[in-house]
Amino acid sequence: MFTYLEEDKILFPGDLFGSHMTSSELFVRDEAKVYFAAKRYFAEIMMPFRTNIQKHMGMLNNYELEIIAPTHGQVYDNPEFILEQYNEWISDKVENKVLIPYISMHGSVEKMVNYLTEKLTEHEIAVIPFNMSVTDIGEFAMELVDAATVVIGSSTVHVGPHPKMIYATYLTNMLRPKAKFASIIGSYGWGSRMVDMLKEILKNFKGELLEPVICKGYPKEADFKALDELAEKLLLNIKIFNNHGGTKMNIFDVTEIYQFAVQIEENGEKFYRAMVEKFDDPKVKKLFGFLAVEEVRHEKYLKRC
Ligand SMILES: Cc1cc2nc3c(=O)[nH]c(=O)nc-3n(C[C@H](O)[C@H](O)[C@H](O)COP(=O)(O)O)c2cc1C
Repeated sequence: MFTYLEEDKILFPGDLFGSHMTSSELFVRDEAKVYFAAKRYFAEIMMPFRTNIQKHMGMLNNYELEIIAPTHGQVYDNPEFILEQYNEWISDKVENKVLIPYISMHGSVEKMVNYLTEKLTEHEIAVIPFNMSVTDIGEFAMELVDAATVVIGSSTVHVGPHPKMIYATYLTNMLRPKAKFASIIGSYGWGSRMVDMLKEILKNFKGELLEPVICKGYPKEADFKALDELAEKLLLNIKIFNNHGGTKMNIFDVTEIYQFAVQIEENGEKFYRAMVEKFDDPKVKKLFGFLAVEEVRHEKYLKRC
């Protein structure tokens, strides 16, 4: 509920447009500073109500606003500044950004996070890994405001995710970010229900959950290959999403699919050739040699199309 003082054209919106900052100056003078405080406030407090705000923002067009005076933070005597920011934050538009909140006790998950980060950044996707043992949760929440993708990384502790990742995932779920894609990467020693438990916590997530990559102990070649595939899938999804004006679509761009398909065959061949070198058993060598030739055959077939 808002209050509007008609005579002075002042809007009192309560919590909306607020920020957790204090200053001896009543009015906003340093917009850059207020931008961060207001975005953090939006992320931590208002984001779960994003679609509701979206529905009602238009009502403000019916009022002439000279001042916006929220209950927290400084007063805006240039209301356009905060209205513009809110219109961005509540919109369905996402940025080409992959967030990877993670915990790694002994380095296995961290290795996976670094590998995935490298793969994605090669393709000019911004990746922000958050080591949740040292992350300020408000900074993570701020990035959730517009990130297209979230990949949760956790080691297994007592059959489930690491407790700090339960917290981070719970928060992600409660904040209802507009991310379109998510996945889970992680490691276990002997038995894990981590993926099921994380999926259960993430039940508000409305986007697409891509196939998780979970490895036993430290990641090995097959796990890196699975991460390659996850990176390719993420890239394809993000690209398709962006090429269609930031809306999910069902009709795929044939050229994009074709390029990714060729890339997958090339990666597959490299992987099987490496396996031929790795093993001494002639039967195993023969099997991987056969699989490598098959990948080349698929690639040639695709290139003939
Ligand atoms: C306190 C503790 C509890 C663990 N509990 C489990 C468990 O219940 N199930 C399991 O498969 N592995 C368990 N592990 C093993 C780790 O999940 C495994 O070593 C994993 O590779 C660690 O990943 P990290 O190197 O990224 O920390 C546990 C390890 C620790 C230190």
